[in-house]
Amino acid sequence: MASRMYFIVTVTLTLLATIARAIDVNVTGEWRPERGWEVTCSWATLPNDTLQSVRLYNNGQQFMIYRPEKHGHGRTDVFHGADKVMTVNCTTSTYRGQEGRCVLLLEPYQPPAGNYNYTCEVSGERPMFRIGKKDYVIRALVPPSDAILISNKYEDSSPNRVMLNCSSTGLPAPNLLWTVGDDMVQADFSGRMWNPTSKLWNVWSYLSYTRNDDSKVLCSPEVTSNNEIIRGRPAEYNSANGLTGTAKVTALVLALSLLR
Ligand SMILES: *[C@@H]1O[C@H](CO)[C@@H](O)[C@H](O)[C@H]1NC(C)=O
Ligand SMILES: *[C@@H]1O[C@H](CO)[C@@H](O)[C@H](O)[C@H]1NC(C)=O
Ligand SMILES: *[C@@H]1O[C@H](CO)[C@@H](O)[C@H](O)[C@H]1NC(C)=O
Ligand SMILES: *[C@@H]1O[C@H](CO)[C@@H](O)[C@H](O)[C@H]1NC(C)=O
Ligand SMILES: *[C@@H]1O[C@H](CO)[C@@H](O)[C@H](O)[C@H]1NC(C)=O
Repeated sequence: MASRMYFIVTVTLTLLATIARAIDVNVTGEWRPERGWEVTCSWATLPNDTLQSVRLYNNGQQFMIYRPEKHGHGRTDVFHGADKVMTVNCTTSTYRGQEGRCVLLLEPYQPPAGNYNYTCEVSGERPMFRIGKKDYVIRALVPPSDAILISNKYEDSSPNRVMLNCSSTGLPAPNLLWTVGDDMVQADFSGRMWNPTSKLWNVWSYLSYTRNDDSKVLCSPEVTSNNEIIRGRPAEYNSANGLTGTAKVTALVLALSLLR
């Protein structure tokens, strides 16, 4: 009885191991600045199998099939959508396609509305038609860049009053949060623009600030994605030494011209 149980368990485990090992598929992805997402699907069949096809899906819809029988040892194709362009390069590194990979470059034309759900399905030849398949979520997230803060003095007004301009980039568009000391403050004006070259949002925010103590002024970029808050490095305006680099230079030039 016990040995029979052992037999069943062993057979089950062996079967599971065989299915799991049938075709090994891995998908990895990376954001390439100024290009887009590069997603690589690599596979390895059993040594005695032959590659029948590789199918690629975006959000459940097949957009590419690679069949060595029809396309030979590789296939490169470009797919234009309304909001993105996808370039795929599939290549095999062994004679019967037991090993190979498809590299996808996904370049958004427009700000992505959400994540992309990518699937890579690899099939072996008859009679077994073994299948290996992986889903991969291309997360539409590029963390906010470090905040950049520029200060400008107002002409003909209180010397303690400055206009602060804070900016950052990211995907989705980062929010820029202002704090003075321990208090959150509302921006006077903020704006954003999609940059088709970087494929990211440029965001900026103005705060008109009048110094009356040595409070630290911070501008912090952050985004919320999948209920997670992702922060970029904040920029600080220290009102105690409020002269910015450019303002110092201007003061120096002015002082020099008065000496002449
Ligand atoms: C998939 O990833 C595993 C773990 O990193 C590795 O052992 C395996 O060789 C990979 N297979 C392929 C086909 O890249
Ligand atoms: C290939 O190898 C597997 C595992 O080693 C074996 O089960 C199968 O019968 C072999 N032949 C074919 C045609 O897949
Ligand atoms: C991705 O798409 C596949 C096929 O449509 C589906 O089975 C899977 O649940 C989806 N995954 C996510 C995270 O949406
Ligand atoms: C496709 O990938 C192969 C192997 O990585 C490479 O040699 C080839 O140049 C690539 N083709 C294109 C059009 O990118
Ligand atoms: C504020 O910063 C943004 C982003 O760097 C820039 O486009 C804009 O011209 C700046 N505005 C001023 C008044 O400096």
